[in-house]
Amino acid sequence: MEYYFAPMEGVTGAIYRAAHHRWFPGVDKYYMPFLTPTQDHVFTPRELRNVLPEHNRGFTAVPQLLTKNAEDFCWAARELYAMGYEEIDLNLGCPSGTVTAKGKGAGMLADPEGLDRFLEEIFSRAEGKISLKTRLGMESQEEFPRLLEIFGQYPVSLLIIHPRVRRDFYREPVRMEAFEEALERYPGPVCYNGGLVTEEGCARFRARFPQVDRVMIGQGLLADPALVRKAKGGPGADRESLRGFHDQLYHAYLEAFGSQRNTVFHMKELWSYLSRLFEGAERPLKQIRKAADSAAYESAVDQIFRNCPLRRSADWTEGN
Ligand SMILES: Cc1cc2nc3c(=O)[nH]c(=O)nc-3n(C[C@H](O)[C@H](O)[C@H](O)COP(=O)(O)O)c2cc1C
Repeated sequence: MEYYFAPMEGVTGAIYRAAHHRWFPGVDKYYMPFLTPTQDHVFTPRELRNVLPEHNRGFTAVPQLLTKNAEDFCWAARELYAMGYEEIDLNLGCPSGTVTAKGKGAGMLADPEGLDRFLEEIFSRAEGKISLKTRLGMESQEEFPRLLEIFGQYPVSLLIIHPRVRRDFYREPVRMEAFEEALERYPGPVCYNGGLVTEEGCARFRARFPQVDRVMIGQGLLADPALVRKAKGGPGADRESLRGFHDQLYHAYLEAFGSQRNTVFHMKELWSYLSRLFEGAERPLKQIRKAADSAAYESAVDQIFRNCPLRRSADWTEGN
């Protein structure tokens, strides 16, 4: 089984990927948060900081594009292949209202014929592999069979299925029966994504779907950075590695942002996941949420590392 790190906009940028790979190696591929190529056909300095190969050394990374304009997709893909990337992923799942209103992300699923024309153009001009990361539809999973028919016409290198519809956002339960049905209909390589947060959950998935040999994990890995290592039979995270991972991230953000405020803001999102791996972290977590500068932040983090025992897993879902 191969395990991929899901793209998480605002969280799993180049700094995160480098720190994660150093302290918790074993992830087979890191999918990067989306880039949105514009008609100007230039990458912004921020995009370059995340995507340049020198910031993604030592592990396999896959850039992701969010656009409904085939011309812009082909321009960005050409640039990225030229940097040495072998695979480019297309985002067909982003549920955000501002994205779908423009017909991008999951919004592309609402117009299957338009999507077909878009895919026809990008695949006919592709100079490397293209994978698709998709939901089941906009409103209803009944939309998926038609979408699968369209995907099946192209040499999609990997179809990553997050079995929710756009209307579900990330709240509703994943629709496993719809995923199962998709496996019967779709002939190409498939990767499953959604709701895997423990090694037991991964084992249950493997037992139920022995024909699927790749899964992608997002929030589960943010909460327990050693989850993939555990799923592959290795040890869980220890306190020293977690501290090393945290400190590398924190100091790299301080240097990159040049601002305690922005750094602390960034770390807060991470702790909303990572705190689930610690017993009794509610109080220091509250302090982290209130912290506006490094002194307050560091003192709360020290409390967690000093006082809170590690949990065996970061399970926060029922029945996972
Ligand atoms: C904060 C956040 C940012 C995300 N950013 C992206 C993104 O840039 N591209 C994408 O395809 N999916 C994005 N996703 C969706 C995840 O990649 C993944 O599909 C989702 O979290 C479900 O998987 P999980 O249950 O393993 O987390 C994001 C999700 C979250 C919560």
